[in-house]
Amino acid sequence: MDAISLEHLSKTYPGGKQAVRQLSFSLNPGEVFGFLGPNGAGKTTTVKLLTGMLAPSEGSCRVLGHHPSQEPQKVHACSGVVTEHAQMYDHMTGMQNLQFYASVFGLSKDQAKQRAEALLEQLELKDAGNQKLSTYSTGMRQRLSLARALIHRPRVLFLDEPTSGLDPESVQKVNGLIQKLAKEEGVTVFLCTHQLRYAQEICTRYGLMEQGKLLAVGTLDELQKRVCPGMILQICAADMPKQPPFLSKGEGIYETRIESEKEIPELIRSIVAGGGDIYEVIAKKPSLEEVYFTLTAQEGAL
Ligand SMILES: Nc1ncnc2c1ncn2[C@@H]1O[C@H](COP(=O)(O)OP(=O)(O)O)[C@@H](O)[C@H]1O
Ligand SMILES: [Mg+2]
Repeated sequence: MDAISLEHLSKTYPGGKQAVRQLSFSLNPGEVFGFLGPNGAGKTTTVKLLTGMLAPSEGSCRVLGHHPSQEPQKVHACSGVVTEHAQMYDHMTGMQNLQFYASVFGLSKDQAKQRAEALLEQLELKDAGNQKLSTYSTGMRQRLSLARALIHRPRVLFLDEPTSGLDPESVQKVNGLIQKLAKEEGVTVFLCTHQLRYAQEICTRYGLMEQGKLLAVGTLDELQKRVCPGMILQICAADMPKQPPFLSKGEGIYETRIESEKEIPELIRSIVAGGGDIYEVIAKKPSLEEVYFTLTAQEGAL
C-alpha cells in the first residue's frame, strides 16, 4: 500500500483562489519526500488536505489508505504534523506539553513519561524539559513541536517548513532524527520547504511545485536527467593540448559535455598524452535549485 497517494487533488479557496491543481503522485513507505516550491506554491494547502484540515474541491487523497476528510481520526492516529507556527501551551513546561498530547493519543501515564523523556533527550531539550514553554526560543519551540508530532510513533510525518527559525546546529540534529526515523523505523516523511538546498541534504525524492501545479516528481538523478542528459566535465590543467572537445572557460579551466562517467578515463589519457598537466577533474551535474529553475523556465516558455 502507498503511504500517501493523491489523485487529481485540487483545492480552490472560497473567493476563487486555485491553490492546488490536479496533483497526482504517490509515496512509498520510508521515503523522505521533499515537496518544494516558493511561497504561495500550494505546499501548506496540500498538507492541510492530507491532514483533513481542508476538504478537496476535486480529486482525492489518502494517507495509509484513509481519506483524511472522511476519516480524520484514523489519519491523525497514524500521522504527526509539524506546522510552521506550532501551537502549544505557553504556561506549561515542555514535558507537560508532551505528556498532555500523549494523553490525547491514548498513551498511559508511564508510556507518556518514557516517550517524552526519550524525545526530549533526542532533540537536546532535556535540560529545558522542566521550563515553561514561554521561556523557549523559536528553535526550541520548533524542536518541541517535532517531539509532540512524534509522541504517538506515527507512521507518516508531515513537516511544513520544519527548519524555519532553526540555527544550523539544530538543523543538523533535526535532519539526523528525520533520516533515522525513515531508515530505521520506515516512517514516511512529507517535507515541505522553499529551501531547495536544505531539501537536497535529506530527501530521497522530490515533487517540484509552482503556482499550485506539479512541475515534476522524481529522485535527484531522474530530475537531473530530465533537464540535462549527461554532465559537464570540468578540468583544471596547464599546457592543455589544443584539441576538441574541450572549450576554454578561463585561465586554465576547460569544459566539455559528456554522456556518462565512462568517457572520463579516455579523455584524461588523451590530455596527458598530449602533454597536459591536470590539477583537478570535476564531473558537474545540476543542483536541485538549477533543476527547479530550468523546469520553471521551460514551463514559462510553453
Ligand atoms: N485560507 C485561504 N484563503 C484564500 N487563499 C489562500 C488561503 N490560504 C492560502 N491561500 C492562497 O493559496 C495559495 C497557496 O498558499 P499555500 O498553500 O500557503 O502555499 P505555500 O505553503 O506553498 O507557501 C497562495 O496564493 C495563498 O495566498
Ligand atoms: Mg506554506
